[in-house]
Amino acid sequence: MKAIVNVDSNWAIGNGDSLLNYIPADMKFFKAKTTGNVVVMGRKTFMTFPGPKALPNRVNIVITSDKSWNAPDVITCHSLDELYEQLERYDTNTVYVIGGSSIYEQLLPLCDTVYVTKVETAKPADKFFPNLDETEGWFVEDEGEENEHNGVKFRFVTYKK
Ligand SMILES: NC(=O)c1ccc[n+]([C@@H]2O[C@H](COP(=O)([O-])OP(=O)(O)OC[C@H]3O[C@@H](n4cnc5c(N)ncnc54)[C@H](OP(=O)(O)O)[C@@H]3O)[C@@H](O)[C@H]2O)c1
Repeated sequence: MKAIVNVDSNWAIGNGDSLLNYIPADMKFFKAKTTGNVVVMGRKTFMTFPGPKALPNRVNIVITSDKSWNAPDVITCHSLDELYEQLERYDTNTVYVIGGSSIYEQLLPLCDTVYVTKVETAKPADKFFPNLDETEGWFVEDEGEENEHNGVKFRFVTYKK
């Protein structure tokens, strides 16, 4: 299982329901990695999508404790156990954890790869991803070159365990 996340200099990922940084090249990277694969997310992250609608050309799995919640083209799971049962149908290499913070925290122990887009901003935030530079067992496998969007520097970094 893999995770994919966009963090700022403090490993912050969101403030309230909002993302911190919108970088078109990062959206493109996310789409390229996840298209044709399985994306796993929390109900709150799903609700931030335009529509909110399922991401096209991907198996969308949403975790919620609300048994009456559903949305078109979405598979709902109501616990981690239900999720694990569901994931048995897919090759683990095709499964991407896409947030938010509660789901990253619960599923990171099962991931072997994390695609981190590191953005050099430090905005007010209340949602974070674990700092992999300070988490035992994780190392940088690949660090892309520095890019810039509207004066904001960012780079794609792959962590492995
Ligand atoms: N920077 C990035 O790459 C990135 C990516 C994604 C999201 N984000 C940000 O992350 C924030 C959202 O994160 P979040 O932690 O607040 O919400 P979240 O993880 O997206 O969703 C939390 C919800 O998932 C459900 N849930 C979680 N664990 C569960 C479990 N074990 N069993 C059953 N249901 C479970 C619950 O839904 P119910 O309340 O329905 O029970 C819970 O309220 C936003 O700011 C968003 O913009 C950032």
